[in-house]
Amino acid sequence: MTFNTPIDRRGTLSTKWDLMEKLYGVSPDDGLAMWTADCDYQTAPCVRDALQRAVDHGAFGYSWQDETYLGAIQWWMQTRHNWPIETDWILTTQGLGNGIALCLDVWTDPGDAVVIFSPVYHEFANKIKNAGRAVTECPLVRDGDTYTLDLDDAQARLTGKEKLLIWCSPQNPSGRIWTAGELRALADFARKNGLIIVSDEVHHDLIMPGNTFTPMAVAAPDAQDRTVYLTAASKTFNIAGQRTGNMIIPDETLRSAMRARLKTIDYNPSALGVRMVTAAYSAPGATWVDAQVAHLQGNRDLFDAGVNAIPGVHSLPLQSTYLAWVDFAGTGMTREDFTARVERTAKIAASHGNGFGAGGETFLRFNLGTSRSVIEDAVARLQDAFGDLQ
Ligand SMILES: Cc1ncc(COP(=O)(O)O)c(C=O)c1O
Repeated sequence: MTFNTPIDRRGTLSTKWDLMEKLYGVSPDDGLAMWTADCDYQTAPCVRDALQRAVDHGAFGYSWQDETYLGAIQWWMQTRHNWPIETDWILTTQGLGNGIALCLDVWTDPGDAVVIFSPVYHEFANKIKNAGRAVTECPLVRDGDTYTLDLDDAQARLTGKEKLLIWCSPQNPSGRIWTAGELRALADFARKNGLIIVSDEVHHDLIMPGNTFTPMAVAAPDAQDRTVYLTAASKTFNIAGQRTGNMIIPDETLRSAMRARLKTIDYNPSALGVRMVTAAYSAPGATWVDAQVAHLQGNRDLFDAGVNAIPGVHSLPLQSTYLAWVDFAGTGMTREDFTARVERTAKIAASHGNGFGAGGETFLRFNLGTSRSVIEDAVARLQDAFGDLQ
């Protein structure tokens, strides 16, 4: 496995490395890119082989989504998530950011409101606002090392204009895995308030050992008539740049509306993306993911031990994802001060917590999807940068 083989991604059109100086002021010459959510190692050999075969073939004409591709997605959901789906429920998007934007477009109008639970993946709020819709932001409740849902509080925040609820499961940025009971309560909340649920489950494969992920569809099957499930191989296999995601929509009325929208904008997925996803969702792909999760667990443990040794800094224990959610509140520093230490002194670009909405202000999010040596380096840099607190 290649997780510890460093790849120099600088100058390869990598958003994470090639835009970090512009966005964070951290030079790629001596800095570490630990922000956007992709990984610094190669994807699975089965995916690379499929791409290589396509390149060797050399003809890149029009293509379609065949039964092999749809069947591979169906197989993955059944085998890895115990979630039986029909292949004709699957619609392909240009990644899940695109999927979220399409849902806003199809099921809301300008002036409508959309419910989110923060802190959460910053693009939910950005996309809602960019579409001219209002954000109904419901804060999650911080409970020690985790977050919980307060649906009574959420109910009180509704303005009556809400049409959609965008949900993140497992949760980015905290890595929280929601229980079946919580998912059912959320589904009841949506039904009571007439909301369509967009359940973004892109991080569902990267589950730390000892935890169990329950898909929304399994926890609350009776909510299938109002739910759009978003999944992708992009995070799981580090192939986000191929821009291929899925909407899984069991309800025929919802699905027809989305299908019509995709037809209107003439959307067809890239042939290379389809080939990569087909190759990824396979037995060799599954073996590779298991090895990756073991690698990420080691990264998490090393990172948490090193960072939690700094007085006042606390990395919340991750149940899933490779995104460490680190609270600097205990340092007593301002957001500007601790961020400057991380960016200017440690020379690490990490995602700013305030971008994830209410509750994220004292946090930075560090991407651990990299080699062990980079994690060691990051820990050493952070311990140095905050050395006066030791
Ligand atoms: C919860 C969540 N949804 C969607 C996305 C974006 O997905 P894509 O790259 O497929 O647009 C991300 C990326 O970090 C994410 O964390």
